[in-house]
Amino acid sequence: MKILRISPLCLRRSYASFKPAPKLSVSDLNESTLEAKYAVRGKIPIRADELRSKIKELNHGLPYDRIISANIGNPQQLDQKPLSWYRQTLSLVQYPTLIDKINKLDKNVRDALYPPDVVDRAKKLLKSTGSVGAYSHSQGDTLIRESVAEFIHQRDGYPSDPNNIFLTGGASAAVLYLIQVLSSGTKTGFLIPIPQYPLYTASISLNKAVPIGYYLDEANDWSTDPKLIRKLIKENKEKGVTPKCLVVINPGNPTGSILTEKDITEILEIAAEHGLVVIADEVYQENVFEGQFTSMKKVLAGLVEKDPQSYGNVQLASLHSTSKGVSGECGQRGGYIELVGFAKEVKEIIFKLASINLCPVVTGQILVELMVNHPKKGSPSYDLYNHEVSSIHKDLLERATLLYGSFQKMTDVECNKPRGAMYLFPKLNFTEDKYPKLFKKCEELNLTPDEFYCTELLEQTGICSVPGNGFGQVPGTYHLRTTFLPPGTEWIESWSNFHKDFISTFKQK
Ligand SMILES: Cc1ncc(COP(=O)(O)O)c(C=O)c1O
Repeated sequence: MKILRISPLCLRRSYASFKPAPKLSVSDLNESTLEAKYAVRGKIPIRADELRSKIKELNHGLPYDRIISANIGNPQQLDQKPLSWYRQTLSLVQYPTLIDKINKLDKNVRDALYPPDVVDRAKKLLKSTGSVGAYSHSQGDTLIRESVAEFIHQRDGYPSDPNNIFLTGGASAAVLYLIQVLSSGTKTGFLIPIPQYPLYTASISLNKAVPIGYYLDEANDWSTDPKLIRKLIKENKEKGVTPKCLVVINPGNPTGSILTEKDITEILEIAAEHGLVVIADEVYQENVFEGQFTSMKKVLAGLVEKDPQSYGNVQLASLHSTSKGVSGECGQRGGYIELVGFAKEVKEIIFKLASINLCPVVTGQILVELMVNHPKKGSPSYDLYNHEVSSIHKDLLERATLLYGSFQKMTDVECNKPRGAMYLFPKLNFTEDKYPKLFKKCEELNLTPDEFYCTELLEQTGICSVPGNGFGQVPGTYHLRTTFLPPGTEWIESWSNFHKDFISTFKQK
């Protein structure tokens, strides 16, 4: 066999007759992609990844052996087990040959591995979707959309039309569709709560629209202030910005608050009066510890029933997801939008956007089915399902209570009681007169006090949180967002100790 020898010199020499063009630089990119910010995976989480790699080294020299990812609501990264009902059914639709194989097993063994209702559901789903490896209808599988409509009907007591349901790759895809379709020029305003989940400011920025932040009232459990919203609408109209949409996150991220029926009614009244599309981000509807979740759709349907003339034109897009609640299936990307009150032609454009993306991930769609149409009392999977769901709720409540209790004991920290979602958003009461050394240090480092606090917390304890400025906060106030998902109590203790040291270093004696 002849061996071809290539000289290293030959590899280096260029024979081309043209001068190679330079690579792209950042200034060549779409400007709006440069402007978009997403703090949840920003500078501090990036540093956390570096530290995570360092920890793998033999003598890493760090005072801890693990990074606590309290920056993101990613339950299964933090110990939450997937529900058996989901994974059993999913495994059969992924590998349908298993259905024949398990039929050959002893009944007791088979029923323990795959209870009959799991097998039935998998068969039903396969009949509707066909292979999960095939594209589905762009709006999502019909059977699953029917289940979503039935779920909404049962939840709210008002009917829902499967034709108004769009299955999506998580709520993020839904937000991107909606903001893209509603942004008609640089003078389109989106009213968003502040603090907000930064997907909203990022998507608004990507579409060159204008965010109009309405501050939530921290002193009143982060409630909404309708007077403020009305004032902002007026001011922006005067500036030539047309408010077109109002976003509500309920239960709140990062605030953990829950809107009352009265709050929701007031928001819908504003929407009706000003022709605002309402985006109701309700991905945390199952994460409720105190009080009750009321859907925007339920309140709207009630208002339309009573006063169709005033409320009949309100357009509402409600979002849900399989990433949160007890599902925690963030990596599988399932969710839906329910559109209420939109004109047929507008829905057709949203459908066109969905079609450009071909279809949402089919396994994500299947998870939506399993979330909205889960085992009922008396069915073979019910006991295990109920046990797993109850223990997830119990665990989350315990962790939330523990962390909240710990913040309450910390000097110069104020925290509203968590009522829903997966986060706490405590206020760090740092003022220049009480913390002159801190403000001086921050000036030197060109960091805000919340950025500095979260950076030090990470460097010294391995706990990764997100500074409040990534979500928005009243100027001059400082917060941070943490999830209460990480298991164990050790990390909470090490946070308390860090805080004591921080205060004793920086607070004026
Ligand atoms: C308020 C809110 N909306 C939407 C999302 C996105 O969820 P998904 O994973 O369904 O895209 C999140 C994720 O944390 C969220 O907190």
